[in-house]
Amino acid sequence: MRKKLKKGLVLALETSADDTCASVVDGQRVLSNVVSSQTEIHKEWGGIVPNLAKRAHMERIGPVVEMALKRAKTSMEEIETVAVSLGPGLGIALAAGVNKAKEIARTYNKRIIGVNHVEGHLWSLALQNRAGNPVRTLEFPLLVLTASGGHTKIVLIEEFGKYQIIGETLDDAAGEALDKAAKMLGLGYPGGPVIERLALEGDEKYLEMPQPLNINKVLNFSFSGLKTSFYYKVRGMEKEEVDKHLRDLAASYQKAVFDHLERKFKLAIIKLEPKMVGATGGVLANLTLRKRLRKMAKVTGREILFPAKKIYNTDNAAMIGLVGGWKAARGEFDEIDSLDIKPNWEV
Ligand code: KG4
Ligand code: ZN
Repeated sequence: MRKKLKKGLVLALETSADDTCASVVDGQRVLSNVVSSQTEIHKEWGGIVPNLAKRAHMERIGPVVEMALKRAKTSMEEIETVAVSLGPGLGIALAAGVNKAKEIARTYNKRIIGVNHVEGHLWSLALQNRAGNPVRTLEFPLLVLTASGGHTKIVLIEEFGKYQIIGETLDDAAGEALDKAAKMLGLGYPGGPVIERLALEGDEKYLEMPQPLNINKVLNFSFSGLKTSFYYKVRGMEKEEVDKHLRDLAASYQKAVFDHLERKFKLAIIKLEPKMVGATGGVLANLTLRKRLRKMAKVTGREILFPAKKIYNTDNAAMIGLVGGWKAARGEFDEIDSLDIKPNWEV
């Protein structure tokens, strides 16, 4: 007898940077979330090496998909839709995921949906565990700060599919700014988590850092000035002095990056008066930043939402699956043959 299809199961793939990810979701419920990190490959280079990322994605995506199905206790037959991240991201890395998704869709006769990676990050706020927790009623307009290694944006969500960019970075992303500073200090890649750890024991007043775009009506971000200022300060120090003050340097720089994020997000909240606020993306895995934003949101009379699990902040395929499932419910499918990467896709 044929088994009844589990309604609406989505298999999602995500390979936009250096994590090879696959997930099975049922609406907002995450049945499996597999992330194969390439940190070990890239860390000695101080950043992502595109060709190495491509090769690792191609080698790993098959086993990662298998594992996602297995952990979700399902099989390809029960999958209704394949969702895949098309961009923004690194072209040759994205292609590994998109090619695999197309191959699966053709082989198993599934429908396919391309998803915007940043839209995925936004909706990681709505991801739930297998049992459907946490239960959150999202209210709109919902104003979200999303910051990672590839983007930094303040987005007003009016409803699913309707987004307004309120502010965005004019140069580097916040995570990129942290990664570059870590590289200057010889701390390896990715820099955000290392800087977070060191900063906990450092003096954040050690260095005086500039305040970028310090004009209240500007809601955009700029991190390149911070990076340059930090570069010259570190270059002017003796090696022993840098080593001795590593924690203080990390704390001062992190504070400058977070001051900038917080200041612009607060201005946006005051200006737009959203019903709810949230924050997502790799940089939001940082507990110091979360604490600061929680306090700031409270001052504006609001609670702030973060993704329910720390791993939903950094790249994952569950967020791509959630958006794919919601698009599928609206009938927004793509053609397998014409589906292609969009490395510069705006949300
Ligand atoms: O979302 P994500 O995994 O990938 C992109 O879409 O870029 O974000 C990765 C970025 C990196 O720049 C990394 O340094 C930063 O997020 N990151 C952090 C932390 N964990 C990851 N930044 C600050 N504190 C952290 N704990
Ligand atoms: Zn990302």
